[in-house]
Amino acid sequence: MSEQQLSTKHILGIKYLTRKDIELIFETAQSFKEVINRPIKKVPSLRDVTVANLFFENSTRTKLSFELAEKRLSADVVNFSASSSSTKKGETLLDTVNNILSMKVDMVVMRHPAPGAAYFLSKHIDASIINAGDGTHEHPTQALLDAFSMIEQVGTLKDKKIVIIGDILHSRVALSNIFCLKKLGAKVMVCGPPTLIPKYISDLGVEVSYDVKAALEWCDIANVLRIQLERQDIKYIPSLREYALYYGINRDLLDSIDKEIVIMHPGPINRGVELSSDVADSDQSIILQQVENGVAVRMAALYLLAASRN
Ligand code: CP
Repeated sequence: MSEQQLSTKHILGIKYLTRKDIELIFETAQSFKEVINRPIKKVPSLRDVTVANLFFENSTRTKLSFELAEKRLSADVVNFSASSSSTKKGETLLDTVNNILSMKVDMVVMRHPAPGAAYFLSKHIDASIINAGDGTHEHPTQALLDAFSMIEQVGTLKDKKIVIIGDILHSRVALSNIFCLKKLGAKVMVCGPPTLIPKYISDLGVEVSYDVKAALEWCDIANVLRIQLERQDIKYIPSLREYALYYGINRDLLDSIDKEIVIMHPGPINRGVELSSDVADSDQSIILQQVENGVAVRMAALYLLAASRN
């Protein structure tokens, strides 16, 4: 395993990582991917390190993936779920976290609906924090596992064309992907209905398209995002049916372009809305490889952060 260290004590967002940090995480994740494919999948790297997984918002993949990564590294793991906790009795985020930390926790993985929640905590506690998604802001380990999976498919991302399609406005995955892919030299486009594309997104150095067929013809890889109805307080699209008609990716649409592109989705999928089942489950889709890589990438993030604390 590499002796190099991350430039940071926390992983709050891709915005705060250097290209060198990202490459170090990928190099380390590659080694861990080999480990988790062995008959004995566990290593002692985080023995005597205690990690708290604090989930103030629902999750399937991220929560299980972090827990598995921590256990594969032999960490002691405690899980907190807001829905069954004393936050329901009015306890503040800082009080909750300080109470957990007083039980001698070394690292915190936190998902929270408020943008900036992980950054706020990093200013108040000593433990290393990994942001597992903060509202509509960032989801750094998702972007890292996405980029790692892309590199496995197409090699270096320098000058590769990647389109992110869907609800860009409400997506933390979109923002983290844009930061990560730009740092790795990719050409990035976002595509979706005008109401779901933030007004000033081109300031981040991305192209914008409202035409999904043209975007698919342009790209090497399409990362397709979920329509986040739970974050939409007003109607941004007339109906899911209309969205599927104009922006949904189905077999006929893919067959109408004359190259084979890679299809990705961070999950959870709204089947029949942003992706049809015959695309999501096709050989062009690497959705389950993304999930598999998530464990190795999160093992790398945890391992490198623990090393930077020593
Ligand atoms: N991709 C992702 O963050 O999925 P979960 O919400 O299930 O964790």
